[in-house]
Amino acid sequence: MNRLSVLALHGPNLNLLGVREPGIYGTLTLAQINAQLTDLAQTLQVSLVAFQSNHEGELVDAIQQAPPTHQGILINAAAYTHTSVAIRDAIAAVNLPTVEVHLSNIYRRETFRHHSYIAAVVLGQISGFGAQSYGLGLQALVSHLRQS
Ligand code: DQA
Repeated sequence: MNRLSVLALHGPNLNLLGVREPGIYGTLTLAQINAQLTDLAQTLQVSLVAFQSNHEGELVDAIQQAPPTHQGILINAAAYTHTSVAIRDAIAAVNLPTVEVHLSNIYRRETFRHHSYIAAVVLGQISGFGAQSYGLGLQALVSHLRQS
């Protein structure tokens, strides 16, 4: 059986993790989060490719190009979570199992963060566990992929 492969997508401003509002997003950099995710992927015996972009269209392109290389998507769409019909439509179009993650608990924050355009087209959402949200999301995604 071929190894499962997961695409981890990080949206706008997540390249600034570590220095960006550390009281909300923590002190780990994106490189450190990706390294932790890669370690976990190895433990789970799946491949993981990470990509960050500040540009909506690049994230849409990455989602469109995910199959057939990747069997699942882990996404923190960051601010585009709350604005992007295009990212939602791309996830629905490729129809790959997708898990939405957020470092902060978006429901404890400003009301404009309470609505996610992508929540309705993903398997589930993990929000509020800091960098751990990514690891929890990857475990949930891999266990879903192995069951299906
Ligand atoms: C975020 C929450 C979003 O509201 C925000 O725009 C982000 C990060 C999070 O991981 O907590 O950039 O997705």
